[in-house]
Amino acid sequence: MKIYKQLENKYAALSSDAHTHLKGLLHAKELNYWEYIQLDTLLTLQKPRSIYGDEEIFIIYHQNTELTFKLMLRELKQIWDNQENELDDLLTRVSRLVRYTNMLINTFDIMKHGMDMEQYQLFRNTLAPASGLQSIQYRLIELHCTSYSNLVSGELEEFKIMSEEERLDNLYWKKAGLKSNGDTTLTMAQFELKYRDELIETLRKVKGKTLEDKIFLMQNIPGDLREMLKEFDYLYNVAWPLVHLDTAQHYLQFKSKASKSTGDSNWVEYLHPKNQKRIFFPTLWSEKEKSQWGQIHQ
Ligand code: HEM
Repeated sequence: MKIYKQLENKYAALSSDAHTHLKGLLHAKELNYWEYIQLDTLLTLQKPRSIYGDEEIFIIYHQNTELTFKLMLRELKQIWDNQENELDDLLTRVSRLVRYTNMLINTFDIMKHGMDMEQYQLFRNTLAPASGLQSIQYRLIELHCTSYSNLVSGELEEFKIMSEEERLDNLYWKKAGLKSNGDTTLTMAQFELKYRDELIETLRKVKGKTLEDKIFLMQNIPGDLREMLKEFDYLYNVAWPLVHLDTAQHYLQFKSKASKSTGDSNWVEYLHPKNQKRIFFPTLWSEKEKSQWGQIHQ
């Protein structure tokens, strides 16, 4: 069919007139690269709080990671959206998750070796109480990947009868927001004030429909999908946390003495994957592999 006829049909179906739209095209400004990707706006989003130049590296790399988290969430939301995922579709999306996570791991050196140590020590004082602990996308990724029971420590039976509000209060990362006297840190209090409703809504939305739930429903998980899921699980829950922790130690730990972090958590213990034991797809791993979780690189 000729293109004009197709356009006529398209707009007729929308009770509109193709001719008017074509005339609009005649007068429209042509597109350019900088407007299409919103370059001017993008380049105004880096606002250092200090006078130190390397703070911009810190901000840009965090923004880069958040954009990658957005790409990952996009895949996970489509898996969630598609109630009857075809195997090919799952393979494509999980392979993208693997690729994105690898990119984050392979570029983390920009943080570990790419900033001047002295400048970092000075500008980091201007950041408190802001912390990566307040990354909502990091939390949404884990909620979309795996069932609630894999994100808590404790007896599953108790959680079954809990409301979403109570469930939220038992997630594993809540302990990073508690001071030794039991008070909530300012970092965690601020995070909850902004995101509590969204987290509760997400807990409700993903119940029974996480990526892990999808693979539970499969009669037989094909070998290539199984391997890809395990790779993603390892990369996201062991390899990235280890490069991140390694960087935190590089900047915050001297002669085995850990400095206070901007998020005020017990970070040396909390951040190690062997302690978090966050595993998205536990049924794909052997008991031995699970008991050694996070210790492979030690
Ligand atoms: C110099 C670089 C970095 C240092 C020293 C650092 C340090 C820390 C520390 C100490 C924590 C624990 C919470 C706290 O007490 O504040 C934390 C958590 C976190 N950081 Fe970083 N971080 C760095 C770079 C990054 C980057 C580039 C990202 C990317 C978004 C990131 C994302 C996170 C996330 C998501 C958490 C929460 C982890 C969890 O709950 O398991 N961090 N970081």
